[in-house]
Amino acid sequence: MGFTLTSKTLTNLQIISLILLLHSLSVFPQTNTSSRIDQDQVIRDGETLVSPQQIFELGFFRLGNSNSTYVGIWYYGIPNRTVAWVANRDNPISDDSGVFRLGNGSLIVSDRNGVVYWSSNSSSSAGSNSNLTSMLMDSGNLILTTVQNAGDDSNAIWRSCDHPTDTYLPNLRVYLNISRGISREFVSWRTPDDPSRGNYSMGVDPQGSPQVVVWEDRSNRRLWRTGHWNNQIFVGVPQMRSLLLLGFRLVPVDSEVMYFIFNYPTSNPLVRFLIQWNGFVQQLTYDNQTSRWNVSLSQPSSGCEEYNKCGNFGVCRTSNSPALCSCMAGFDPNPASRDQWNSGNWSGGCVRRTQMECSSNGTTSDGFIRHTDVKLPDFADLIAVSSGDCEGRCLQNCSCDAYAYLSGVGCLIWSGSLVDVERFEQGGETLSVRVANSDLVSGSSSKGVSKTIVIAISVTAAVVLGVLALLLWRYRKACGKTKNAPLVSEMSNGQDISVEVSEQLERERKEYDGPPLPVFSSRALEAATDGFANKNKLGQGGFGPVHKGILPGGQEIAVKRLSKSSGQGLEEFKNEMIMIAKLQHRNLVRLVGYCIEGEERMLVYEYMPNKSLDSFLFDPVKKAELDWKTRFMIIEGIARGLLYLHRDSRLRIIHRDLKASNILLDEQMNPKISDFGMARIFGGNQNEANTNRVVGTYGYMSPEYAMEGLFSVKSDVYSFGVLLLEIISGHRNNSFRSDDSTNLIRHAWKLWKEGKPEELIDPLIVDSCNRTEALQCVHVAMLCVQSSAIQRPTMSSVVFMLEGENTSLPQPSELDITSLSSTEMDMIMEGREINISSNDVTITEVSGR
Ligand SMILES: *[C@@H]1O[C@H](CO)[C@@H](O)[C@H](O)[C@H]1NC(C)=O
Ligand SMILES: *[C@@H]1O[C@H](CO)[C@@H](O)[C@H](O)[C@H]1NC(C)=O
Ligand SMILES: *[C@@H]1O[C@H](CO)[C@@H](O)[C@H](O)[C@H]1NC(C)=O
Ligand SMILES: *[C@@H]1O[C@H](CO)[C@@H](O)[C@H](O)[C@H]1NC(C)=O
Ligand SMILES: *[C@@H]1O[C@H](CO)[C@@H](O)[C@H](O)[C@H]1NC(C)=O
Ligand SMILES: *[C@@H]1O[C@H](CO)[C@@H](O)[C@H](O)[C@H]1NC(C)=O
Ligand SMILES: *[C@@H]1O[C@H](CO)[C@@H](O)[C@H](O)[C@H]1NC(C)=O
Ligand SMILES: *[C@@H]1O[C@H](CO)[C@@H](O)[C@H](O)[C@H]1NC(C)=O
Ligand SMILES: *[C@@H]1O[C@H](CO)[C@@H](O)[C@H](O)[C@H]1NC(C)=O
Ligand SMILES: *[C@@H]1O[C@H](CO)[C@@H](O)[C@H](O)[C@H]1NC(C)=O
Ligand SMILES: *[C@@H]1O[C@H](CO)[C@@H](O)[C@H](O)[C@H]1NC(C)=O
Ligand SMILES: *[C@@H]1O[C@H](CO)[C@@H](O)[C@H](O)[C@H]1NC(C)=O
Repeated sequence: MGFTLTSKTLTNLQIISLILLLHSLSVFPQTNTSSRIDQDQVIRDGETLVSPQQIFELGFFRLGNSNSTYVGIWYYGIPNRTVAWVANRDNPISDDSGVFRLGNGSLIVSDRNGVVYWSSNSSSSAGSNSNLTSMLMDSGNLILTTVQNAGDDSNAIWRSCDHPTDTYLPNLRVYLNISRGISREFVSWRTPDDPSRGNYSMGVDPQGSPQVVVWEDRSNRRLWRTGHWNNQIFVGVPQMRSLLLLGFRLVPVDSEVMYFIFNYPTSNPLVRFLIQWNGFVQQLTYDNQTSRWNVSLSQPSSGCEEYNKCGNFGVCRTSNSPALCSCMAGFDPNPASRDQWNSGNWSGGCVRRTQMECSSNGTTSDGFIRHTDVKLPDFADLIAVSSGDCEGRCLQNCSCDAYAYLSGVGCLIWSGSLVDVERFEQGGETLSVRVANSDLVSGSSSKGVSKTIVIAISVTAAVVLGVLALLLWRYRKACGKTKNAPLVSEMSNGQDISVEVSEQLERERKEYDGPPLPVFSSRALEAATDGFANKNKLGQGGFGPVHKGILPGGQEIAVKRLSKSSGQGLEEFKNEMIMIAKLQHRNLVRLVGYCIEGEERMLVYEYMPNKSLDSFLFDPVKKAELDWKTRFMIIEGIARGLLYLHRDSRLRIIHRDLKASNILLDEQMNPKISDFGMARIFGGNQNEANTNRVVGTYGYMSPEYAMEGLFSVKSDVYSFGVLLLEIISGHRNNSFRSDDSTNLIRHAWKLWKEGKPEELIDPLIVDSCNRTEALQCVHVAMLCVQSSAIQRPTMSSVVFMLEGENTSLPQPSELDITSLSSTEMDMIMEGREINISSNDVTITEVSGR
C-alpha cells in the first residue's frame, strides 16, 4: 500500500506522525531466534518457542493427570495455560519423549523412536530442496516459509490458522472455498481435558449470503447461526455495530474464495472466540487484574436464539415472552401439533392458510406481506436481479415463499419453508412473505404491530446480543481504557487493518457493475406521478421539484425533474447518469433510472418513506423519535456515504450541497445521501476547482467556498460538521439565535471555548444519550468546522474518529477566515490529491497531540 505524498502538503504534525509510523513499522519485525525453528532443528518436550513480543508460546503440554502429550500453542505468561491450537489433537504421545521438528518440508511431531504422530503434510508444496523455517507469530499463527520470507504471513507455505482446532484468534484470516459449500473448520474439544475432536463444530455456510453456523455433529443439527452477512454485519446480530476499521469482515477474494477476519488492535485486552466442548460459542476477554478469562458471551442463549425455536413459518420474538412464538401473517399453527403449540412447544411450526396460486404463465394474484426487522430465514438462494425485479422473480417461481433484497448483496429468495426467523425490536432486514390474495387483508404487515408494542426491552435485547455484537461493544469499552495510547502505535500494530480497509473499499467499488440503468419515457413518469400532481410533490430541491410516483409494478419512486439550465449535451448527461448510477452504497440514495426527452431531464430514485432528516430534526414533535442511538447511526451513515463519494467511488465526487434536507431516511431510519453527483452534472468542468457557479446552501458552505468559490473535499467536510452540530443540538444552523451568537457554529465555538460543549446537546436527549459518544461527536464537529480547510480532517479520519471512541483528538482552532493565504489555497487544492491517494497519512493526522 504505497502512499504518494508531497511534503509540502503536510503539516509538521502529520510529518511527525508519519515518521513515527514508519519508524514503528521498521522496528516491528524484531525476530528472536527463540520464536523460530529452522530446518532440522528440534524442540523437545519441555522446550518452547515464544513469539517475538511474548504473546504466544508453542511447546508440549499435558492436561489434568493424563500422560497424553500434545504439541500446541498457548498464551505466554498466563497462569492457567490457555491453549489456542493443538497439532496432534487426535493422536497424543503417551510419554515425555516427544520431538517437534521441521524436516523434509513439513512440521512433524514424533516420539523418541521416530514414530510420526502428526505432520503438516506440507512437503509437496514446499519444494524438495528449499531451505525452510517456521515461526510463531504474535498473532498466534505458526507459519512455515522459506528462509527468505521468514515471518511473512502472506507468503507462507503452511499456516496453523488454516487448520484451526476450536479457537479463532483475532486478525487471522480464515479462508473459505465457497464453491465447496459448507466448511466446518472449528471443532470443539471432547472435554475440557481432552482436545480430541468433540461433538460440535462451527463454520461458515455460504448459501445465499454467508453466515456462521454451529452444528451438533452427530445429528448434523444446527444449533445456532449468526444470520446472513449483509455486507456490513450479520443480520441475526442487529446490535453488532458496523465499523469500517475494526470488527468482523467477510471479504471475497475471487468468485470461489473468501475469508473472514476479526480486526482487532493487538494492544487491547486479549480476546478469543471458541466453540466450547459443550457446544456453546464463546467470546472471552482476558482480565489482567484477576488473571481470568471473562466470558463476554455465550451462544446460543435461551429463547429465540435457539435454532428454529418456532418451527417453520413461525416468528420468535423475545419481547413477547413467555409466548415467544407466533405464526407469520397468513399462516396458522400446524394442526398436527396444535396441542403442542398451545402448550409452548412450538417446534411443529405453522402452515399456510391458503395455498399460493401458481400458474405457468407467471400471472398470479398472490401478494406479499412485509416483515420488518427480522433475522432472515435460513437456506436462502441468491439470484442475480436488480432490486426492482426481486419480487417479480419470486412471483414467477411457484415454490418461492419469500424474498428479501439486501443492498450490497442482492436478491435472496426462499423456497420450501421459512426456517429460524426472529423478530428484533430494531435492526434486522425486511422479509417479504408471499401469501394468497385472500390472506393479504387479514394480516397487516408486521410494521403496524410493531408500533403498538414498542416496549422498552433493552434488558432482554441485551441477552440476545450475538457473539460479535458484544465483542464490538467490548472493544469500544476497551478503547476507553487505553485512553492515552497513541493511535500511531495502534495502527502500526494493526498494520493489517489498513490493508483490510482498502480491500473492503476495493470490493465495494467492484461490486456494482450491475444491470443497465433503465430509461423511462416521460409519459411513463407522468403517469406514475399523476401528471406531476401537486399532491404528489415531495419537495423542491435546488435542481428542481421532486414528486412521488408509483410504477405499474407497484414500486414507489421519487422523480426529480431537473430545471432546464444545466447546459449539458444529451450524450454528456447520459454518460454522467450511467456513471452515477454505478455509485452504489448503503448510504447513498439509489438511482432507479432516468429520462431524457427533448428538454426534459428527470432522475428516478428509490422512494424513501421517512422523507428527509430535516423533517424530523427540526420538527418539534417528530424530533422526539430521534433518540441518541438513532442520531448516532445517522451520523455514522452520512460519514460513510460521504467517505465513499470522496475516496472510494470511481468518480471521486464532491457533493457541494450536503445539508439536512438532502439526507433521506429509509424505513429503518438509515440515512441516504441524495443529490450527490448533482454538482457534477451541473457544475461543468470538474477539473477546475474554482467555479463561477456556487451551488450549495448558505450556512452549510465552507468559508473558502462561499467567499472565493473554492471547493475541495474539505468543503464537504465543513458541511458535514455543520450537519453534525445540527443533529446533536437539534437546531438549524442558520435560524439559530441565542443571546450573543447569530448562528449555531458561533454558538458552538463559544461553548467550546468556555469548556461547556455538553450544553450543545439537544435537551431532549441530553439525559438519555451516551455522553462520551455525544461529546466525541461535538469534538469531531468542531474539527470539521475549522475555518482552515487544511486543518479539517478528511472523511476517512472522521469515520475513524467516530468509530474509535476516545482516540485522542487534536484541539480544533478557530482561525480568522480572511487569513487564508493563497499558498494555503493551493494546498487545499493539492490536499485533494493527497486525501485520495493515501489513507495512511490522513489517519495519522488524527493522532496529533
Ligand atoms: C530472545 O531469546 C532469548 C532466549 O532464547 C532471551 O533471553 C531474550 O530475552 C530474547 N530477546 C527478546 C528481545 O525477547
Ligand atoms: C503416567 O506415566 C507414569 C509413568 O510411566 C505411570 O506410572 C502412570 O500410571 C501414568 N498415568 C496414566 C494416567 O497413565
Ligand atoms: C525425508 O523424506 C525421505 C523420502 O521422501 C525419507 O527417506 C526420509 O526419511 C525423510 N526424512 C525425514 C527426516 O523425515
Ligand atoms: C498427513 O498425511 C497422513 C497420511 O496421508 C494422514 O494420516 C494425516 O492425517 C495427515 N495429517 C494432517 C495434519 O492432515
Ligand atoms: C538454511 O538457512 C539457515 C538459516 O539461514 C542456515 O543456517 C542453514 O545453513 C541453511 N541451510 C541450507 C541447507 O542451506
Ligand atoms: C474450490 O473448490 C473447488 C471444488 O472443490 C475446486 O475445484 C477449486 O479449485 C477450489 N478453489 C480454490 C481456489 O481452492
Ligand atoms: C458427545 O457425544 C457422546 C456420544 O453421543 C456423548 O456420550 C457425550 O456425552 C457427548 N458430549 C457432549 C459434551 O455432549
Ligand atoms: C471481567 O469481569 C469482571 C467482573 O464481571 C469485570 O469487573 C472486569 O472489568 C472484566 N474484565 C474485562 C477485561 O472485561
Ligand atoms: C497486564 O498487567 C501487567 C502487569 O500486571 C502489565 O505489565 C501489562 O502491561 C498488562 N497488560 C495489559 C494489556 O494491560
Ligand atoms: C485455573 O483453573 C482452575 C480450574 O479450571 C481454577 O479452579 C482456578 O481458579 C484457575 N486459576 C486462575 C488463576 O484462574
Ligand atoms: C414438541 O413437538 C414435536 C411435534 O410438534 C414433538 O415431535 C416433540 O417431541 C415435542 N417436544 C417435546 C419436548 O415435547
Ligand atoms: C394465465 O393462466 C391463467 C390460468 O392458469 C389464465 O386464467 C390467465 O388468463 C393466463 N394469463 C395470461 C396472460 O395468459
